[in-house]
Amino acid sequence: MGGDGGGGGHGSLHPAPCGDHLQLFSLPMASGQTYYGQVLKKSGDLQTSACVTTARLVPRHIQEALRNVHEEVTLRYYGCGLVIPECLENCWILDLGSGSGRDCYALSQLVGETGHVTGIDMTESQVEVAKKYIEYHMEKYGFQTPNVTFLHGYIEKLEEIGIKDESYDIVISNCVINLVPDKQAVLQEVYRVLKHGGELYFSDVYASLELPEEIRTHKILWGECLGGALYWKDLAVLAQKIGFCPPRLVTANLITVQNKELERVIGDCRFVSATFRLFKLPKTGPAERCQVIYNGGITGHEKELIFDANFTFKEGEIIEVDKETAAILKNSRFAQDFLIRPIGETLPTCSGCSALESKGIITDPFTLAGQSDSMKSRCSPDVAGGCCGITYS
Ligand SMILES: C[S@@+](CC[C@H](N)C(=O)[O-])C[C@H]1O[C@@H](n2cnc3c(N)ncnc32)[C@H](O)[C@@H]1O
Repeated sequence: MGGDGGGGGHGSLHPAPCGDHLQLFSLPMASGQTYYGQVLKKSGDLQTSACVTTARLVPRHIQEALRNVHEEVTLRYYGCGLVIPECLENCWILDLGSGSGRDCYALSQLVGETGHVTGIDMTESQVEVAKKYIEYHMEKYGFQTPNVTFLHGYIEKLEEIGIKDESYDIVISNCVINLVPDKQAVLQEVYRVLKHGGELYFSDVYASLELPEEIRTHKILWGECLGGALYWKDLAVLAQKIGFCPPRLVTANLITVQNKELERVIGDCRFVSATFRLFKLPKTGPAERCQVIYNGGITGHEKELIFDANFTFKEGEIIEVDKETAAILKNSRFAQDFLIRPIGETLPTCSGCSALESKGIITDPFTLAGQSDSMKSRCSPDVAGGCCGITYS
């Protein structure tokens, strides 16, 4: 796929994806390739906390997988969240905007030799760094056949680089979609390449309001992943327009800007980095509320599965879920690890069942980010490093 400056139409005015209530995206002069290929040399060169936010609650097996990634790859990591979901064995995963490949290499261990990870990025120098260490990692993991591929291309044009319909179980993306003017094209491509029951599990930056032009066209704010941030409410509009289930919010962290000039430009606007899950479900009949029991079968999450900000499934515990969550659990790769019954049917009793509770679903990442204290209390013994977790830098 084309070289710097080609293919994406970057550098001109782009119509907003979702109609007139979304912004026009006017891009700054420095293209993304230049920023990530030449301006930045390592994570420490970033000027805001948008990329490389502190991750919390990182399970031990994921910490180990991250530790096994080569130092040069990790040094050029610019993500804004942890994009390693659960239940990965044998999965085919596509990483949109894979950069130097840190997440791809961590995931390639977790899917195992019979799974596969494909990373795509438009910045040639980042793809080169990623490719350079394929042999190193395969040897380290003891894999005979490489299970990771890196491609140079644009994530809004996956067909051009040969990514076929319904070919992936999971698509991930770490701090990239904000950098693409046509966000609807990206989500549409993701929908096309995902299998039914598949999910997009992604971290990105969101704004508390529709961004004014001064922010959208600011060269540094764009490169730092703030200028192209979607107004958080527009994610649900876009996703459902394309056919995904409503977004499920997993984590959120407020972004800090320690630069007086950038603070002035940003004004009252606030930013969060947030991780969402978007599921592509088969078109079936109307879903219904259900009771579910998690069987503890997911590697690294045997005691509990923190599915999102609203639902934590403890092994053996009866939980009542809304119809959307029920549909996701029934029709995705999680189905094998849950006993699911419509409400009214009797479930086998278990020791330590908690009382069923119905709760309001949190969808606003700013609300969740503000509840960091209560997030801390969600630490489980499966999680290493206490509530402070680890920082990727
Ligand atoms: C903030 S960095 C994140 C990189 C990587 N996900 C990580 O966690 O280190 C953004 C990356 O997205 C890539 N990118 C931006 N727009 C893209 C597009 N339209 N197609 C492919 N890659 C793109 C950039 O080249 C850059 O490597």
